[in-house]
This record gives sequence, C-alpha cells and structure tokens, in this order.
Amino acid sequence: MTQANRNRVYIFDTTLRDGEQSPGCSMTVAEKLRMAHKLADLGVDILEAGFPIASEGDFEAVTEVAKELPWVQVAALARACRLDVERAAESLAHARRPRIHTFIATSDIHLKHKLKKSRQQVLEEAVAAVELARQSVDDVEFSAEDATRTDPDYLEQVSRAVVAAGARTVNLPDTVGYSVPSEYAELISRMAQALGDSAIVSVHCHDDLGLAVANSIAAVEAGARQIECTINGIGERAGNCSLEEAVMAMKVRNDRLPYHTGIATEHLYPASKLLAELITFGPQPNKAIVGANAFAHEAGIHQDGYLKEKSTYEIIDPRSVGIPAGRLVLGKHSGRHALRDRCSHLGYTLTKAELDAVYDAFIALADRKKGVMDREIAALVERVTVRAIAAD
Ligand code: KIV
Ligand code: ZN
Repeated sequence: MTQANRNRVYIFDTTLRDGEQSPGCSMTVAEKLRMAHKLADLGVDILEAGFPIASEGDFEAVTEVAKELPWVQVAALARACRLDVERAAESLAHARRPRIHTFIATSDIHLKHKLKKSRQQVLEEAVAAVELARQSVDDVEFSAEDATRTDPDYLEQVSRAVVAAGARTVNLPDTVGYSVPSEYAELISRMAQALGDSAIVSVHCHDDLGLAVANSIAAVEAGARQIECTINGIGERAGNCSLEEAVMAMKVRNDRLPYHTGIATEHLYPASKLLAELITFGPQPNKAIVGANAFAHEAGIHQDGYLKEKSTYEIIDPRSVGIPAGRLVLGKHSGRHALRDRCSHLGYTLTKAELDAVYDAFIALADRKKGVMDREIAALVERVTVRAIAAD
C-alpha cells in the first residue's frame, strides 16, 4: 500500500441515521432522498441511511437511497441480533454496494444495567451477528457501543473476534462523549496495532464535552481511517462529530494532518443549507465552517486587515466550502475603512470630510443597534451629503 493510500480517511456519513434520530431532526423518505443526493455530491464514502428495524420509513429510506444512488456505499444499522440483521439485509437486497453495520454495547455499565448480559454472552452475540450479516453481504462493520468506557482488554478481545468472524471495519464509538483526545488516541492506537491490516478502525464521537471533532482527529493521528460524522454535527444529545469541521481541519492543516478524504469541500455549505431546510434548526451563527458568522468580520482592526489582505484574518477561502465570499459586518466596532468600502459598494464615493461625517452618524446609530443594514447606511450618506450641499 502506498503512503497516499495509507493516509486516506473514509468519511462515513450518519446524518440520516444518528443525526436523524435526534429531536427536531426526523425526515420523511423523500427528504432523506434529497439529502442523500447532496451527500453523494459531497462525495461521502459511506452513507448510513437508516435503522431498518426501527420503522417502515427507515427501511424504505435505506432501500430507496440504495436504488437511487447505486454507486454509493449504503449502510443499514442493526443491533447484534437475528431480527435486526435480517431486516437490514432485506432493506439492502437491491443495493449494489451494501454494508451492514451491526452493534452491541461492550462496557460493563451497559452490560449490567441495560443488557443484563455477561461479557461472554455479548462476545458470542457480536460474533454471531457478524457471521449472520456476512451471509448476506461482504461488507460488515461492527460497533462496540460505549467503547471508551469498556475495559480495553475485553474491547480488544471482542474486536479480534468480530474481525475473525468477517467484520471489515471495527468502530469504537465514544457513545457518551466522555473521552478526551489523548485518552482516545491511546485506545485507538492500541486497537489499530492489534488489528493491523485485517480491518479498518473507525471512530464515532459524540459531542457531550464539545470534543467530538478533536477526538476524531486525534484518533486519525493514532491510526483510525474512518470517521463517522454528520452535517452540522447533528445527532443524539449534543450531536456527533461535525463532518465539515473534521474534513476542513485535515484539509487546512494538512501540514500537521497529512490525511486526505474524497470530500468535494465546495459542497459543504450547500449540504449544510439543505439540511437546515429539511429539519427544524440550522447551525448556530458562530458554528465553524458553515455558521452565518463563520466568515463575517466586525471589529475595525480585523476589517482593516481583511481589506488589505484577506489572509490576515481568514484561514479558509470561503469559496472552498461553497460560500461566495467573506463579509464585513458593520457595527459599532467597525472602522472607517470598512465603512468607506461598503459605501463604495453601495455606489457612493465620499470625500474625507463626508466620510468623517457619515462615520460619526454611523457610530451613533450603531451604538443603539445590533448591526447596521445597507439601507440605513445609504440613508445616512444621503442625509449627510444633502446637508453638506445645503450648507455650501
Ligand atoms: O453512538 C453510538 O455508539 C452509535 C452506535 C450505534 C454506532 O451511534
Ligand atoms: Zn452515535
């Protein structure tokens, strides 16, 4: 394998499964199909389209996505039990590139309180589910739910056993968003060494401590080669690792993170917009990469630098993520440079004295408001310049 191949990170998108199973995010089959097309444009490697045993809608979504996008690798989720695995296999019956993703919890806390099963029982059920899935498809992924709170020796035992049973990908989720990057990297490094080339180690991080992206990136540095993530970081509770953040971190800081994905990053913003249209909320304004303020500059010092040379305050070319350009927001922290620039965009060429007068009026207005709109700036310019003409 070449170094380039070794450093290829697969993007497993779970917007339509983990993302969809969070409050305010459920989608109809038609909506999932629209989103699936966008995810295909984006170039995700694996698209998890649903949890077929959960509902007829999820079953249909997996079937339809696989039918409409035959070139995409489509995954269906299944608990590690016969009914789930068979239902997942059925939903993928016509898929050209099917993957069954089966999971069971491995931490003692889940075994004792949720599953009420012994470690041995869980190990046997994991292996049986993988073997059963392999009877229908070649591509089987196994997830050890709550891996980060699982005894590492037992986790390694389960991981080796499912690979021997035919799993090609072993996913080690930080299900409750509890891990920190150094700790997660240690776990991933150990499992990647244990599995070697026999399986791809995958990561799936939740954002309960705001560390999902950092944990995923640390895991890649430690040997993981699949990241499970969602557009806008939607997902259970605080969400999943944000696809756009993880991908852009590896692209922008490729000097420190020499990994690559198949993502066409100029589709990131359109994908984020479409998702926001389909569910009940969009990303928060200050969300990295796709938030409304991600490329907005308000402080005067920043605006001055940005107008002279964009790279002073922008580390990402907005066009590379599908946003036409950065923007200057005019508010009380803005300076004359930005105001003059905006006035000239609005068609006004001001003398120094006019600019000073408009600037004073602008600051007085901005002090009373959260931001000043273009039409208000135009009105200020008209008022100030008319007054100046009258005074002549
Ligand atoms: O968070 C989790 O552990 C999951 C698994 C089903 C992969 O979503
Ligand atoms: Zn999850």
